Amino acid sequence: GLGLLIPALLGYALGSIPFGLILTKVAGMGDVRNIGSGNIGATNVLRTGKKGLAAATLLLDLVKGFVPVWLVGHYWGGTAAGTAALAAVIGHCFPVWLKFKGGKGVATNAGVCFGLAWPIGAAYAVTWLLILALFRFSSLAGMTAVVAAPIAAWQLDMSEYVPFLVAIAMLIIWLHRANISRLIGGSEPKVGSKN
Ligand code: G3P
Repeated sequence: GLGLLIPALLGYALGSIPFGLILTKVAGMGDVRNIGSGNIGATNVLRTGKKGLAAATLLLDLVKGFVPVWLVGHYWGGTAAGTAALAAVIGHCFPVWLKFKGGKGVATNAGVCFGLAWPIGAAYAVTWLLILALFRFSSLAGMTAVVAAPIAAWQLDMSEYVPFLVAIAMLIIWLHRANISRLIGGSEPKVGSKN
């Protein structure tokens, strides 16, 4: 109902701040959308060669997901937190400020998961790091982590979050369809590679 409007607006407002774009512009690196995959996320910011900028993008994109979900969950409980979670990821992926062309949501969803419950965030982070260490594809690691989150919520008896996390997972995987084609075709760049 109308009670979910404030969580949704708060999530969207914070989620839609395009930190990757802002940081690369402020650092004088130009528009990150003109390099690599054209994405505004930390993985593509890393393709500027600036590790500090990529780390700052990862952290800030994570924090903007964590803050609204944690705040809303703290004061209004589960369904409102799930709404803020979905809204934050939608804000990152479809920011009104960038004509609705934003990022792919992996870092923001990490913050969202920690905001919902730290064990869900831990499952997400461990999955992401493990798959990244094994295969070196950021996209594959991200897609695996987004699927791990609703499974973790289910296993931890936090089933009220499962529909929100499933919706987020479907959205994020759909946004990775070009990455999926490259993974299948063998042309997806590995993290740390030059192309
Ligand atoms: O978070 C985005 C990542 O999973 C893929 O980014 O730039 O390789 O398409 P990119």
